[in-house]
Amino acid sequence: MRDATTSPSRAGHGTPALSVRGFTKTYAGGFTAVQGLDLEVPDGAFFGLLGPNGAGKTTLIGAISNLVRPTAGEIEVFGHRHDAREARRLVGLAEQDINLDRFLNVDEVLIYHAGFFGMGRAHARRRAKELMDVFDLSAKAKVRPTALSGGMRRRLLFARALMHEPRLLILDEPTAGVDVELRSELWEYTRRLHEAGTTILLTTHYLEEAEALCEEIALIRGGRIIARDSAEGLRAQYGAADIAGVYLQAMARAAEDERRVAA
Ligand SMILES: Nc1ncnc2c1ncn2[C@@H]1O[C@H](COP(=O)(O)OP(=O)(O)OP(=O)(O)O)[C@@H](O)[C@H]1O
Ligand SMILES: [Mg+2]
Repeated sequence: MRDATTSPSRAGHGTPALSVRGFTKTYAGGFTAVQGLDLEVPDGAFFGLLGPNGAGKTTLIGAISNLVRPTAGEIEVFGHRHDAREARRLVGLAEQDINLDRFLNVDEVLIYHAGFFGMGRAHARRRAKELMDVFDLSAKAKVRPTALSGGMRRRLLFARALMHEPRLLILDEPTAGVDVELRSELWEYTRRLHEAGTTILLTTHYLEEAEALCEEIALIRGGRIIARDSAEGLRAQYGAADIAGVYLQAMARAAEDERRVAA
């Protein structure tokens, strides 16, 4: 994978990339997925959000990216309200569910996306070409997403999220179903983006990868953050050899607390 990382401007240094206060989401039907969640992610961080299925990770990411309407709480991206135009431009999201327009070719998926962010056509074409090159999709430029393999669709999602050069890149299980080789290439590329100044918010069930990549990790369960620290800090706090050990202990303790509260 070729290097085409860019350096986003460092303007607003000191303002967190993401600030979430009291975020609550009750879905239609009455189920509360997330309750009063607070989270701050510093500018330039590589941040991991780990938790079991149904913990509320995608709900939180959806709210940051304006796909889910918060029931309560405030969310700011680099100091801008998350639903403001400026905030939307600063966030790039590779969604967990692969949603690609089936009537566009691969290159059009990228170019149309850039259009939403006010990028000029010529600039968008150049950027699309560059990213198709990076993600090894050039040979598939004129193919519909339905004719791509699963891993290629993931790569296209990744490329689409990067089209408008976001300062906060949100990756919701970006390597689910991706082969070993590509997974390590995607992580390497993500690491380079981070080194160039992009803030990364990542969810993954590959705990050892999160441990290797993330400077800070938050564990989430039942819509609440139950632990947050560096990988090293978490290992020390739980007396565990690795993040998998931390995770299992933290989840077991939280389950015990839930049982006590319910009793
Ligand atoms: N549109 C919806 N309507 C009702 N409930 C929903 C909706 N979307 C999500 N939920 C519920 O909210 C909870 C949190 O879901 P969410 O997708 O945020 O979890 P997650 O942490 O991303 O899990 P996973 O690791 O499986 O992706 C789940 O119980 C889910 O069933
Ligand atoms: Mg999810």
